[in-house]
Amino acid sequence: METTISYEQLAIELTANLAQRESDMSVKKALDFALLEDFDHLYRFSNLLMMEQGIDAKNLVGGFTEITPGRPTISEHRHPYDDVRYAGDNKVADSITRLNVAIITAAEQQTMNFYMNVANLYKSEIGRKLFAEIGMIEEQHVSQYESLMDPTCTWLVSLLEHEYTECYLYYSMINDETDEQIKRIWEVCLEQEIAHLHKANELLTKYENRDYTTVYKNGGKFPELLSFGKSNIEYIRKVLKNTVYNTAKKEDYVKVSSLPQDYEFFKIQNIINKNLAQVPSHKVIEMYIKNNKQDYRFETSLNPVKDLQNRKEDNTTVGR
Ligand SMILES: [Fe+2]
Ligand SMILES: [Fe+2]
Ligand SMILES: [Fe+2]
Repeated sequence: METTISYEQLAIELTANLAQRESDMSVKKALDFALLEDFDHLYRFSNLLMMEQGIDAKNLVGGFTEITPGRPTISEHRHPYDDVRYAGDNKVADSITRLNVAIITAAEQQTMNFYMNVANLYKSEIGRKLFAEIGMIEEQHVSQYESLMDPTCTWLVSLLEHEYTECYLYYSMINDETDEQIKRIWEVCLEQEIAHLHKANELLTKYENRDYTTVYKNGGKFPELLSFGKSNIEYIRKVLKNTVYNTAKKEDYVKVSSLPQDYEFFKIQNIINKNLAQVPSHKVIEMYIKNNKQDYRFETSLNPVKDLQNRKEDNTTVGR
């Protein structure tokens, strides 16, 4: 279970971090949108963790992230039509945008794979069901982020971009790391990735008659490095307050109240979440409240959304 918390924490830290630096508004909107959903997953898993193992998730997030409801997981199940965004264009996209999209797609993919492949071995039924439900949301997140990539990118340019992203991440880790032992590991990994990057560039030159300078206009110079270890509390509070009632409508985001009544979102919600008592992400909070009179949270002040402040009843209406 600690692994789960760290996957959600990683997704949240990365997403908040990337969204704050992102200049392309459509990519930034996508990051802010899924941010609130992984934020809610952290809350649901933290309740399960405390309920079953008595572990306080506050200690695992290092005080950098609050644990309180986001866009309720029940509201995150959308029709597949609404998970795909407009594709990016590498000819105009900033290199930080391309890095951000590559990084967050990888993080969401990893989260999805863990939930879908390993979590069916989890010991309790409510836990297995919660993983199964949230695994489906992670699939939506992967689809959203993957769709932001440039589909005209060739195999070898894509290879170069992957290796470049790995170099950027390890280089960022080295710069951020305070533990000398761990830093050594990142250094070894960076050296390996640099070798891969050279190989990718060689292949690009050999088979496409072009090199990295045609892929990265600034000669491959890294943009501002990624940095962990800072609080994302204020940033997430702002996004939560302003956009919690949003959902996706085709390639864009709108207030759920603006959708026509016969919209796909409501049809799919009516199939998946018809019976509230069978929705694991809701049930886990209900179970916790039943045993403890109120839910588990770690808040620095009240949840910025009034509808999400009640700790004695899980909200199932915000965002749907
Ligand atoms: Fe998540
Ligand atoms: Fe996610
Ligand atoms: Fe590599």
